[in-house]
Amino acid sequence: MKFFLDTAEVEEIRKAVELGICDGVTTNPSLIMKSGRDQKEVILEIAKIVSGPISAEAISEDAEGMVKEAEEFASWAPNIVIKVPMTKEGLKAVRTLKQKNIPTNVTLVFSASQALLAAKAGAAYVSPFVGRLDDISKDGMELVEEIMDIFDNYDFETQVIVASVRDPIHVTESAMLGADIATIPAKVIEKMWKHPLTDKGIAQFLADYEKSKK
Ligand code: G3P
Repeated sequence: MKFFLDTAEVEEIRKAVELGICDGVTTNPSLIMKSGRDQKEVILEIAKIVSGPISAEAISEDAEGMVKEAEEFASWAPNIVIKVPMTKEGLKAVRTLKQKNIPTNVTLVFSASQALLAAKAGAAYVSPFVGRLDDISKDGMELVEEIMDIFDNYDFETQVIVASVRDPIHVTESAMLGADIATIPAKVIEKMWKHPLTDKGIAQFLADYEKSKK
């Protein structure tokens, strides 16, 4: 299973790279806005430290505009993936970009039928948004399970990126379902390290070590 960092904060990415847990990065316009920086500047900086796939999102609403943006983004670095929204125009762009060998990540996927259409159009990745489904009292992980079953049935090459991850449980459940990738905010990775019994155990061992010193 691969871990992507879901952030446009370069320092967060640098720390995950140092720990060996950053196989790629996803960004979106909201994350870029939060970083307070320009998209190109951020993506170029990320590309210097991450050799895995880096998703940059196109904001045009028509296929032609998306393809134009994609061609520009793809010229920034060899590992850029174009995030395209799950719309008819988005899927048209996916098809054209596939023919141009530019990989796409179809984003804002909320149903298995959307994921199936994206795979058929030739998306390299689909991103079901689990947290946003949980927000409306639907089980986001059920969607991941459905998509995994469908893709396994037909050997689609499209990889599943579990997105809108809000909690370590989303990550472990993704792993249990065999999802290819989870794209994880840095604050969720922080929670993944932590266990009170680990902290308690370390404190106890250190105290006992001090007592055993002659
Ligand atoms: O990868 C998509 C992600 O950034 C959306 O997350 O928390 O805004 O639903 P969230």
